[in-house]
Amino acid sequence: MLRSIKNVVVWVSVLVFTFSIAGCAGKMAAKNCMQQTKEAVCDQKLAMTPPMGWNSWNSFGENVSEKVIRETADAMVSTGLKDVGFSYIVIDDIWHGGRDSDGRLYPNPQRFPSGMKALADYVHSKGLKFGIYSDAGTKTCGEMPGSFGYEEKDAQLFADWGVDFLKYDYCYCPDYASTNNDYKMAIARYKKMGDALKATGRPILYSICEWGPRSPWLWGREVGGNMWRTSYDVHDIWDRPRNGDGEIGILTSIDVVSNLGRFAGPGGWNDPDMLVVGLNNTGFIKGGGCNDIEYRTQMSMWCMLAAPLMMGCDIRNMNESTKTILLNKDIIDIDQDVLGNQGYRVMRKDCLEAWKKPLTGNRVAVALLNRNSADRSVTVSWEALELDPAARYNVYDVWKHTALGQANGTLSADLKPHECQVFVLSPSESK
Ligand code: GAL
Repeated sequence: MLRSIKNVVVWVSVLVFTFSIAGCAGKMAAKNCMQQTKEAVCDQKLAMTPPMGWNSWNSFGENVSEKVIRETADAMVSTGLKDVGFSYIVIDDIWHGGRDSDGRLYPNPQRFPSGMKALADYVHSKGLKFGIYSDAGTKTCGEMPGSFGYEEKDAQLFADWGVDFLKYDYCYCPDYASTNNDYKMAIARYKKMGDALKATGRPILYSICEWGPRSPWLWGREVGGNMWRTSYDVHDIWDRPRNGDGEIGILTSIDVVSNLGRFAGPGGWNDPDMLVVGLNNTGFIKGGGCNDIEYRTQMSMWCMLAAPLMMGCDIRNMNESTKTILLNKDIIDIDQDVLGNQGYRVMRKDCLEAWKKPLTGNRVAVALLNRNSADRSVTVSWEALELDPAARYNVYDVWKHTALGQANGTLSADLKPHECQVFVLSPSESK
């Protein structure tokens, strides 16, 4: 019976591409399906809260090197980022030199002269974890050798190097750029690598990067995934819809992931892509740049969404506002809350939004977001927040790090353009 429910989820729901999950007949059944697959993934004890780390692509692209990785590992420790929970250092695309005559991948000898094992050892010596990138097709998006046909070999090699995290892309797969999205093909290819990773016996966090067209939130757990990209690449820009290319802005990414909360939880997370916080239009990935309020909003919303927090800026050279945003333990605690709830939008009016994320201890995180390009004030009621109208809460402002006292019935904020303020509401004993 359980098995058949699982099959229904995978094979039926992917075909109909609907959030209501046909075959599981509604929300309750979908929850049961999710629980079955969650248990399997949770056994590995990987990604029990959203993964946190740094990825080379946004800042360094094809110029990533062992020097950059070593210095980034050093900076992760010296800046305090490690202390607030960031742990994975992930080398993205274009680290490759090629495949040798035995079919073994090797890194670019100029940029990685010491080899990957030595680099992984260095990262581990700092108490951090080491991640790498490959692709389910014949080539990576950066035209390097892909893992298609080499899944077992590559997985074992990565395990031998000491890899703890694999980001697995979907370029150069038969249908990757077509509108005839082939779910079965994607599932098969991601499962092949998922199985190969498991067979190594090394716990390797599996990050699926299919960008969303084949609804990986429906099958990500089934193939062993711990996180799955829900949309195309977030660029360093506040608002940009996808215009036929792979570039989107922060708002689009939020909107795509906003209705997928039921698929996220311990062991497997929706991934709205990396943080562009601190890029300031100087990275390999551009877009025009965001201001600090917009960067802070990205951090706030990613935490409300229980998203993986993968930094993309050059953490060796962060300015003070970037540090303030990335090192805010109060907002990170919302992301890392062990219930693993993805926050959801409870109110939207005149481009003002209220979001809610239930936390442990009957607490609730509330985000108030102004999408307008002008100052706005907003007030939300307990009813709008789906709270008991008679309840009183102690309110804590997560960016001001200040207790605001007791509130009963409403929460208000004055918001600058694109600002998001976040509050934690804790049940109040006193009446
Ligand atoms: C894209 C992916 C990016 C980055 C890039 C590397 O497909 O979405 O995050 O990994 O490939 O070529």
